[in-house]
Amino acid sequence: MKSAGSLTAVRLFLKEKMMTERYEIVKNYIYDKLTAVEPPKSRNEGLRHITAVSQYAILLANIRGENAELAGIAGLFHDLYAYVTGIRKEHAKGGAHMAKDWLDQTDLFTKEEKEAIVGAVYFHSEKGTVHLPLDEILKDADVLDHILMNPGAFIGKEKERAEKLMEELHFA
Ligand SMILES: [Fe+2]
Repeated sequence: MKSAGSLTAVRLFLKEKMMTERYEIVKNYIYDKLTAVEPPKSRNEGLRHITAVSQYAILLANIRGENAELAGIAGLFHDLYAYVTGIRKEHAKGGAHMAKDWLDQTDLFTKEEKEAIVGAVYFHSEKGTVHLPLDEILKDADVLDHILMNPGAFIGKEKERAEKLMEELHFA
C-alpha cells in the first residue's frame, strides 16, 4: 500500500498533468466538426479513432516526459481533414493547414506551441521516418490504435514502429 506522502505526490503529479481548458476548447471544436460528418459510420469511427489517438498521445507523452497537452491536441487534429472531407490522400498536410487556420484564429497558443501541434499533424503519416519527439508521439499513438483495433494487420512502414511500441509498452 502506498504511504500518505507518496499518494500526495501522485495527486500533485496528476494535477499538474491534468488536461487544460485549452484542451477542452479544441475538443469541442473537433467534436462539432465530426458530428456533421456523413455517413454515421464514418462519423462514429472518426469520433472513436480521434478520441483514442488523442488519449494514447497523452499517455505516451506522460511516459516519455513530453508535453501531454500539446500531444493530446495534436491527436485531436490529426485526422480531422480526412473525416471531414472524406479524402485520405495527403490528409496529414490538409489537416495541418486546417489546424493552423483554426489555431491562428483562436489566439490560445503561443507561436511555438502552434508550430509543435501543426508539425505533428503534418508529419503523422510519415511512419517510416523519425521526426521531433512530439511528432513521434502522434505517429505512435496512431499506430497504437491500429494495433489495438486490428491486431496482426501490420504492413509496410508501420510494422517496425508497431514492434518498437509493443516492446516499449510491454505488450506480451
Ligand atoms: Fe489516425
